[in-house]
Amino acid sequence: MWIICLLLVPLVAASSNTRLLNGILSHVDKEANPCENYYNHACGQYNMRHIDDTFFDIIQMLDHQVNQNLVKLMDELEMSSQLPDFNVSSVDGKVLRYYLSCRGAPRNMDSLSQYLKVISPGEGLTWPQFIPDGSSWPQENFKWLKALAHLHRYGLTNVFFNLEVVSNPRNASEYMVELNTPTFGEESQLPNSFIEILSVLYIIKVPSSEIITLARKMRTLELLLKTMINPIDTLNNRYISIRDFQMETGHNWQRFFEILIGSSAAPELQVLVRNFRYFTALKELMDKQDARLVASYIMTRFAIFLLDETMGGRESTECVSQVRRNMNLAANMLYKERFFEDSTFSANILEIKDIFEKLRHQFLLQVDQNHLELTALQMKFFVRKAEAIEINVVNLPKTDDLRHFIGQYYQDLQFPTGELDYHQEHLKVLQFRTQKMLAQSSKGHSEEQNILTYRSQAAPLPPPQPFFQLESEDVFKYSLMGYIMAHHLISAFATEGITIGSDGNDQSFRSHRFEEAVSCLSRNSENIDESMGDIAGLELAYFTYAKMAKNRNRLDFTHLPPEQIFFLNVGQFFCGNSDMLVQYKEDQVRLQRAIEGFEPFDKAFGCYRNKPKHEKCRL
Ligand SMILES: *[C@@H]1O[C@H](CO)[C@@H](O)[C@H](O)[C@H]1NC(C)=O
Ligand SMILES: *[C@@H]1O[C@H](CO)[C@@H](O)[C@H](O)[C@H]1NC(C)=O
Repeated sequence: MWIICLLLVPLVAASSNTRLLNGILSHVDKEANPCENYYNHACGQYNMRHIDDTFFDIIQMLDHQVNQNLVKLMDELEMSSQLPDFNVSSVDGKVLRYYLSCRGAPRNMDSLSQYLKVISPGEGLTWPQFIPDGSSWPQENFKWLKALAHLHRYGLTNVFFNLEVVSNPRNASEYMVELNTPTFGEESQLPNSFIEILSVLYIIKVPSSEIITLARKMRTLELLLKTMINPIDTLNNRYISIRDFQMETGHNWQRFFEILIGSSAAPELQVLVRNFRYFTALKELMDKQDARLVASYIMTRFAIFLLDETMGGRESTECVSQVRRNMNLAANMLYKERFFEDSTFSANILEIKDIFEKLRHQFLLQVDQNHLELTALQMKFFVRKAEAIEINVVNLPKTDDLRHFIGQYYQDLQFPTGELDYHQEHLKVLQFRTQKMLAQSSKGHSEEQNILTYRSQAAPLPPPQPFFQLESEDVFKYSLMGYIMAHHLISAFATEGITIGSDGNDQSFRSHRFEEAVSCLSRNSENIDESMGDIAGLELAYFTYAKMAKNRNRLDFTHLPPEQIFFLNVGQFFCGNSDMLVQYKEDQVRLQRAIEGFEPFDKAFGCYRNKPKHEKCRL
């Protein structure tokens, strides 16, 4: 047996290397000169190869694979729910119920109205659009802040003001509520999507004669808000108790927080209010508004929020997306139990952690060379922070008894036992999710999606290119997983991260050389932190790999130089479908910036550039 295994291992490795390489080469456009437009060279055939895909790029592809696995898992759960010992109040039971209620939800436009009938703007009050013909809407009963408090319980925010739970900037082991001005970006913001608001009003059957007028009024209201925001007013932040906040702004914030977080909203509770002057001005503005208009505006924003939350579909993959979004911990746990609990998985984790150790080591060596001319104290800060970074695969809390922990976590999420009712259950889940966020009982745990996926046991056909494969050659591992981890490691020290210490607290940082690098980057990039990760992450991953592979200048499965494979695989992380033009162009620019002026790249492809157009920023 052992001899057979030993014989098989190199065979498996060889075939996986060849397969990975062929996958990479199939995306390359050999006609495009890598020295001129590297994106076109590395990604030139990507479109052709992925013409029928429902995903845009490699990250979306991973996401898609995870969803497919979860669908399989849900099918299995449904089967086991037929057995007599299936526990409906277990985490598995709750996840399954939510999934099935999503699958069975009616697919019609009325569902939005159903939500809005369940969630009213206050006790004994309906939205103005739902009053029976002939009666008038009792507008004196409508209190906008109270209505917002109710809707905030489901996760709505950014209407008139933004509310978030943040880690206390003065002490990162505490969380606090932060109030801020609303942000007016693209997407769901009304000034930029008049169509969206018209459609919502149409769907909930506002008489068509009123729709346009109402939408225009809403838009005017929002533009008024926008003009009240003074973006440079950053010194205007205050830590204040709810009681004082109420006194100074004239709004009933005490009631707002009582509705939102319940009895624990003591008048002494401190909140962080950014842009304080906005909140005093808000009172003046709101007092002048027509209650009916304000109610309609809030309702419309809530409707748009719900549409975003439900993401429309009832297909199995869309419903597992919802499970992942709203019951993230449970989904991660079930996923881990089903797909990761074997020795291959542990071996993968060990390998990934090992790669990270090597990246960290290389990073610390670079810190030690001290190009940034750091002081001894700053150097210590860098080292301590880099050493504190941990890898958390599958994004679950550290505990000995995961099932118990997660069971407790979802204890308060109780579904009725009767017929499935998607609207009720969706609202319950939204409310649960928000309460958890407010209570922050999951301290230290982030809900961010992890990016690792693992070859699924139920390989969909055709088998997708694996993201990380244990038995493959280092060049593949360091150029993809390694690059991404290097990117994140660097990000922890980019302009935002560098002001946060290893304990999460703010830390001032000034370095002349660092500022030079930032201003150099800002000459041709808007997103400095991302550029830092792209550029310095590539260098870090490359030099870490080069050091490992220094005695291996050729690979036994190909005549291509390993450096070319390395840069192709890195480059293909940026490949995307050109139908999504904006993202596609952005990725093109990012990749070009990362490789431009990077000597090992030029060497690998034999590029002889006269003089780089601009000197590469030294990071
Ligand atoms: C079902 O699960 C719940 C929640 O985990 C637990 O409290 C209960 O004891 C379980 N019931 C049975 C019969 O195992
Ligand atoms: C930070 O908050 C924690 C938890 O509330 C507390 O134990 C600690 O004393 C605080 N630290 C400082 C410096 O205030």
